[in-house]
Amino acid sequence: FRIAVFASGKGSNFQALVDAQLSGALGGDICLLVCDKPQAPVVELAAAANVDTFVFEPKEYASKEEYERNIAAELQQRGVELIVLAGYMRLLSPSFVEFYSGRIINIHPSLLPAFPGKDAIGQALAYGVKMTGVTVHFVDGGMDTGPVIAQKAVEIKKGDTAEVLAERIHHVEQKLYSEVVSWFAQRRISLNGRNVTIAE
Ligand code: GRF
Repeated sequence: FRIAVFASGKGSNFQALVDAQLSGALGGDICLLVCDKPQAPVVELAAAANVDTFVFEPKEYASKEEYERNIAAELQQRGVELIVLAGYMRLLSPSFVEFYSGRIINIHPSLLPAFPGKDAIGQALAYGVKMTGVTVHFVDGGMDTGPVIAQKAVEIKKGDTAEVLAERIHHVEQKLYSEVVSWFAQRRISLNGRNVTIAE
């Protein structure tokens, strides 16, 4: 089961997926990292893990369609079956999302539909909720709006700073994402409208 990860940053979720693959828990093969930030730490992590990379600088392309055509070619060459967004800080075009519909997932650090978009952790703290969490969902044309696959709650504790809460959330993310990807590798996930079912 061939997987591509798209990421723009630190890569803690990428690394957790790589570690899950190495331990045999993922049941799939991460065959490509797509990254839009040549300086991002995740690029180094991919090199260390021997994962092929497609690293690009968006401003060197005339349009989003043009670099996405290159990405799609890399995916097709490798027979990628699942695209895993892990902190990819760029919206995919509607035609790309349409083409890979049902085969792109994202992880978001809140219990969607609460706090979509940027800085979900800061939004939750500012709102004063006592409980937030992590959502893994299919990607559709909107921002963090696709069908929900899995969620885990994370408590906000008295005196939490954004850093402390982010660490608690990231810990939950890393575990949950590998688990969800393994369900895909086992072909246990089906999508019907907005309804996601996970076979036993
Ligand atoms: C994670 O918090 C994820 O939920 C969000 O972006 C962050 C990526 O972190 N979409 P990392 O690059 O995996 O460390």
